[in-house]
Amino acid sequence: MQDFGKVAVLMGGFSSEREVSLDSGNAILTALKSKGVDAHAFDPAETELFELKNQGFDIAFNTLHGSYGEDGTVQGALEALAIPYTGCGVLASAIGMDKYRSKLLWQALNLPVPPFVILTDTSDFTAVEAQLGLPMFIKPAAEGSSVGVYKIKTVGELQQKYQELRDQHMHGEIMAEKFMSGGEYTCGVIYRKAFPSIKIIPQNEFYDYEAKYNRDDTIYLCPSDLIPADEQLMRDLALKAFEAIGGGNNCGRVDFLRDADGKIYILEANTLPGMTSHSLIPKSAQVAGVAFADLCIDILKTAYEV
Ligand SMILES: Nc1ncnc2c1ncn2[C@@H]1O[C@H](COP(=O)(O)OP(=O)(O)O)[C@@H](O)[C@H]1O
Ligand SMILES: [Mg+2]
Repeated sequence: MQDFGKVAVLMGGFSSEREVSLDSGNAILTALKSKGVDAHAFDPAETELFELKNQGFDIAFNTLHGSYGEDGTVQGALEALAIPYTGCGVLASAIGMDKYRSKLLWQALNLPVPPFVILTDTSDFTAVEAQLGLPMFIKPAAEGSSVGVYKIKTVGELQQKYQELRDQHMHGEIMAEKFMSGGEYTCGVIYRKAFPSIKIIPQNEFYDYEAKYNRDDTIYLCPSDLIPADEQLMRDLALKAFEAIGGGNNCGRVDFLRDADGKIYILEANTLPGMTSHSLIPKSAQVAGVAFADLCIDILKTAYEV
């Protein structure tokens, strides 16, 4: 076993996803210790990040979800402290947080994304409703956890929801997106290889905040229901999409939607996926024959190999 030195598992933090981060962090801490790694919990909400140096840490395993932990901020601070860390760097983290700019990159590479329109105060909302058709989705470009994501069903509703999102000062541009009715999937990647896809079947109308955090009836299929050719295509798209945002060898997840005809579209990239024992990447890793603790060690190694 490689000697990783003194490892800080960064968990908790200040974001709204603090609790999820603590779950991920504790699962990782236990796994790393089981592999003989000298791992310790480190919560930046309790101890200033620069204390990492004073406390003799050699490397950081980042499990801080949401803003600050996932958007390039912590990554920049760790660069400044010259502490190697797991997960994406500053650029990929910042791009991955921004659905609009991620999609611009993917479009430039001719990778399939659902048709979308950026909304502004001067948008012709009736024309957008006609262009994308109803129902459609509206969402802020730089939130997460389905916060601010709505399915628009009736004429006139788009402008009303746009105004609501504006009034709530959501992060990033506000975008309208064509409704993709053919199901939802996700595909984890690490070391430029993809794990088997997972099909996500929420019991709500879509995979909303409720389904993600307050209900436990979402069905996850891994292996998913894709025919081999589509499975191959999705894994290939996951790798290309992650490469496009600068994900390198790191561990991440790319989410997908299919349309009524089964065509595959990239929905978004996640540069700091959940790592609780029941999270999606650990699930698909297990299907691929990689145990949770081994996955944690693989991720720890990425800190030195970007
Ligand atoms: N264009 C779309 N067509 C169908 N469902 C969508 C679409 N956009 C979003 N959704 C639904 O809303 C959920 C959250 O949207 P998403 O863009 O992934 O934002 P978040 O970053 O908050 O997860 C998705 O998981 C999916 O269930
Ligand atoms: Mg999502």
